[in-house]
Order: sequence, then C-alpha cells, then structure tokens
Amino acid sequence: MEFEIKHKDIAARIGQLEINGKKIETPALMPVFNPNKPIIPIKELKKDFNVDILMANAYSILKNDDLREKIQDRGIHKFFGFDGVIATDSGSYQLMVYGGVDTTNEEILRFQEEIGSDIGSFLDIPSLPDTYKPRAVEQLDLTLERAKEAKNAKFLVNAGIQGAKYLDLRKKAAEELEKDFDMLAIGGIVKLMEEYRFSELASIIATIKQNASTSKIIHAFGLGHPMIFSLGIALGCDLFDSAAYALYAQEKRYITTNGTIKLEKLEYLPCSCPVCSTYGTELKKLYGDDLTRELAKHNLYACVEELNVIKQAIKEGSLWELLQVRSRAHPNLISGLDQLLKYGKWLAKLDPITKKSAFYFGGEESRYRTEVLNAKKRLKRVSSDRMINISPFGKVPAEIADIYPFGSVMVPERLKGDDFVNPKHAVRI
Ligand code: GUN
Ligand code: ZN
Repeated sequence: MEFEIKHKDIAARIGQLEINGKKIETPALMPVFNPNKPIIPIKELKKDFNVDILMANAYSILKNDDLREKIQDRGIHKFFGFDGVIATDSGSYQLMVYGGVDTTNEEILRFQEEIGSDIGSFLDIPSLPDTYKPRAVEQLDLTLERAKEAKNAKFLVNAGIQGAKYLDLRKKAAEELEKDFDMLAIGGIVKLMEEYRFSELASIIATIKQNASTSKIIHAFGLGHPMIFSLGIALGCDLFDSAAYALYAQEKRYITTNGTIKLEKLEYLPCSCPVCSTYGTELKKLYGDDLTRELAKHNLYACVEELNVIKQAIKEGSLWELLQVRSRAHPNLISGLDQLLKYGKWLAKLDPITKKSAFYFGGEESRYRTEVLNAKKRLKRVSSDRMINISPFGKVPAEIADIYPFGSVMVPERLKGDDFVNPKHAVRI
C-alpha cells in the first residue's frame, strides 16, 4: 500500500492510494454493493459513476452457501466483474444491529483473505454512541484484542476504532491501532449521522486524527450522506462508505447536499443528474424495484457530485468557504462547524501556509479560520510604525499588507475597518 498526499486544505487532503497495483484518488466514496441484492449493477457503477473502489459485506457472503461457494471458487473480483479495489466488512455492523453474529474473528479474517479482498476488516465491536461507559470500555478492549489477530492479514486492514462518544476511549483506540495499521476506520458513528449529532461527530473525528500520524488513511464507517462530507473531509477523513444511497432509496428518500427529502414531498427536483433530468417529477410515479433503483442512482449521483465539489475546493484552497455554505443547511451542521473551530490550533498547524484562492469572508466563522490563527501568530513577531487594520486579521504592518493572506481578503462593506481583536458581533466559541 502506498499513500501519497497531493493537495491539502485545513486537515483535508487529496491523495493517491495504491493498493495491489490499483490506484484510487482520495477522498473517495465506496458504494456498498450487495451481491445478494444488487440495486445498481457493477457495470453501471463503473460506467456511470466512475466507481473504482467499492465495499461489500464478507459476512453476508459467508452466510449464503451458494454465493460463498461461487466467490470462494472464482475470487471476489472475478465474481463481481470488478477489477478496482474491493473492501469487505466483517459483519460487525450486523453484530451491532442484531446483537450477535454466527462467525468468529479468525474465520471472517481467513475468509476475506481467501476471496481476495484488497481491504478487509476484523470483527470489531461497534458501541452505540451512548453506551454505558464501562460497557464501551469492554467493547473497545475486545476490539483491540481482535485487532491483534489481524496484524498479519494478507489484505490492507481497515482497523475499526470504537469508543462510543467517549473521547478518551477514542484517543486510546487511535493510539493503539495506529501502531500496527495504516488504515484506521472510525466506527460506531452511523447513529450520530442519522440523529444529526454533528458536533459529537466532529469531536470524535478530530480526536482520532489528532492521535494518528497524518500518513494514516482515515475511513469514516457508514458516513454515506453528502451533507456531512465537507465537515468529515475538512477534519481529515479520506474514505467513506455508503449503503445510505440504497437504503434511503428503499425508504423513498431523496438525498441532497442539504439534507434528505421524502420523495412524495418534492414538487420540483433540485437536481439535474441523468435520473432527475430524464424523469423529472415523473420519478414519483415509478414504483417497486424501478423506483428503488432510479432513486438509488440519484442518491449516488448526489454523493459523487459533492465529492467532486469538495475536491475542487481542496485544490483551490476554498474549503473553508464551502464548509460555511454547507453548514447553513442545518443548525446542527453549524454546531458541527463550531466544534471544528474548537480544534483550530491543531488545524492551523496542518493548514497550508499559502492558498490559491482569495480569502472570502463567509460569516462569523471566518474570524477563526486557520489562516487567521496562523497570520496572527506570525504578526506577533513583526512590528512596524505603520499598522493598518485589515479585517478579520486586525492590525497588520503596512509593509506586508499586500501579501498573502492580507492582500487577498474580501469582506462585506459593513466589516471594512472592523477590529478583529474585539469584534462587536463575533460569536463566542
Ligand atoms: N459499518 C458501520 N459502522 C461500522 C463499524 O463500527 N464497524 C464495522 N466493521 N463496520 C461498520
Ligand atoms: Zn438527481
């Protein structure tokens, strides 16, 4: 496995990940493909969505005799007809949902090797966010024991980090697992996403990132909704897997970057993907498998599009502006962004020194952007007889007023000449 970081913005990065001779660009979305019930066929995933990495569930393959034998026989790539990267999950999610699974860590590890997974998982024990702490400790301890058994696996191990909402446990898990594994997977967070608990989600991601080397690949398990991609990526997530695109479709829910809408409520479609432009609101008249498939496709287009928007922003250095725009979709996203700001000092160390795009003031958060923190730190070391006020930086020596970032700031009229140090209306974070 090789991972090369090409571009950075805040803690986000565009990277190239090479596994078994196959190259993929991160941040990437791994759509979950269920061979028992394929909603979008592999051929279309490749052709229409440019999918070069996907995720399947090794446990459900293991438990289906017919499928198991065929995949054991031909290998998972040949059977799927997919020569990209295949990641498999261990059944841990079933363990959390159903309370138990009929396999062992050893068996599911061996099975993933046998079928030729590029990326595999041990049987981590997902804790629900609000699990009673002593129980979360127990579940984490067992997870860490199981991780040890996966150290010598033939695939790249997607090492599940548990610890529920307890940041000390998340820290411990990250410290332990980063010693032995190159890919760390933040587990037990689907419920936080579903319940819009974005502030807790942000602090869990930040805690794990802070306690892992920047060379580690970070996967957010099950974080498949595009409304949360920019926040997750800004905090350093590289991989997402999504069953959401299909699960939401089954419940007739239409995914957008701003949230989820019940299809029946839509009088107009806020999207021009091939599905939406072909059907328009006639989409609502489809039913059964046709509706699920077409809606799943739209949902996946929405995810792919948002990833492209984010990657473009990283390249331009305008991820902060995008984050601010995205956070306006829901108050809890603003809380998520507020939480991110609390990690400003750490983020400022990761943030590139210069950026290609202008600094657009996009709301109160702009005052606490990493560029502002970094600039203020540097300003402490310079002095001049001629200081001028540049919002949101405060007093800047005139001699450097035209260099980055001071020379590339755009603020609305009302903030011109505003004193950053003591802003009248600044939000307290
Ligand atoms: N899928 C969604 N959440 C999890 C998790 O915590 N662990 C594993 N292995 N898979 C998941
Ligand atoms: Zn669409």
